[in-house]
Amino acid sequence: MKIGLLGLGTVGTGVLHLINQNGKNIEKKIGEKIEIKKILVKDPDKKRAPLADGKIIFNPDDILEDEEIDVVVEVMGKEHPALEYMIKAIKKGKNVVTANKEIIAAYGKELIKLAMENNVSILYEASVGGGIPIIRPLKQCLAANKIHEIKGILNGTTNYILTEMKEKGLDFEEALKDARQKGYAESDPTDDVDGFDAARKLAILCTLAFNKYILPEKIYTKGIRSVSKSDIKYAEELGYNIRLIACAKVDEEDRLEAWVHPVMIRKGNPLNGVNGVFNAILVDGNAVGEVMFYGQGAGMMPTASAVVADIMDVKNNIVIKNGYEDANIVSFEDTVSKYYI
Ligand code: NAP
Ligand code: HSE
Repeated sequence: MKIGLLGLGTVGTGVLHLINQNGKNIEKKIGEKIEIKKILVKDPDKKRAPLADGKIIFNPDDILEDEEIDVVVEVMGKEHPALEYMIKAIKKGKNVVTANKEIIAAYGKELIKLAMENNVSILYEASVGGGIPIIRPLKQCLAANKIHEIKGILNGTTNYILTEMKEKGLDFEEALKDARQKGYAESDPTDDVDGFDAARKLAILCTLAFNKYILPEKIYTKGIRSVSKSDIKYAEELGYNIRLIACAKVDEEDRLEAWVHPVMIRKGNPLNGVNGVFNAILVDGNAVGEVMFYGQGAGMMPTASAVVADIMDVKNNIVIKNGYEDANIVSFEDTVSKYYI
């Protein structure tokens, strides 16, 4: 299987390392070797991992027009030009794997339709929860349930910041700088801090869990910018942790309520003990009851774990229904926005 990698930042470098490290096992499992043939980057002056030697390119068509490349792995981030590259790849008959929640949340329905028309896969496990499996469980393992509610911590950067502010007494800016250095934050960390990243992930989960396609901008969203060290300290004195929570549920009339904002979480609640870059997602289904997914929600190797698993699954997934193709578009009137604190 020949891969064209779009991007060699935190996630792209992780993908390169993981395929190098576990390549033999992976080959045994899928019956073929995964080879990263070419890697698209932007900055010609950046120092690159030695594993990338001889593969770096600057013209996207060197990948998109290469007939040998079966799978395009998009880990560039942002909407443009990543979206245009993904569309071209699909039209050229290439499978696409992406970690880009911004694109899946905003254009998932159109992209997945296009992929189905072209008989290729588009897989996006890494777009929500970093290394935590959640897209496949919702599409497959929990598919028999009617899901009532999904709630949890969907952003690693903000959870890391809140944890460091509490445990090390760091200022917001110091903790953010640390999260950026560790490769957790988006290229524009406003997306993390102001809750947009969590809202995009929640929008993706709403499509898969409730069959409701909601644009992230319709989700009530408030980030952690206004949470101070003294808020965290007073919350602790009362036995609470402050966490950025994303929540979506459907009521008896099948109306969707979805929001992202900081919440005081009581000791004993499973979300109270989720620290650092870890994420946790609670899914409530009518047959299974409550299920919790927990793990590292960002970072190089955990995210690479999800991306490489998608690459391995690309050929199996062509016939599996994606969850997006028949989702109902949620109009503004269908949503109930509530503000709890
Ligand atoms: P990153 O470290 O900023 O890396 C982005 C890479 O894409 C860089 O190699 C950059 O090139 C390249 N790139 C950006 N724009 C380009 C353009 N116009 N043409 C060619 N190359 C371009 O980003 P990241 O943290 O790896 O994140 C990548 C994606 O994964 C994003 O969608 C993000 O939301 C998602 N994601 C990230 C994480 C995480 O923990 N970081 C977890 C889950 C999902 P240069 O190297 O030349 O600058
Ligand atoms: N910036 C994101 C986060 C990356 O911190 O959760 C993982 O999607």
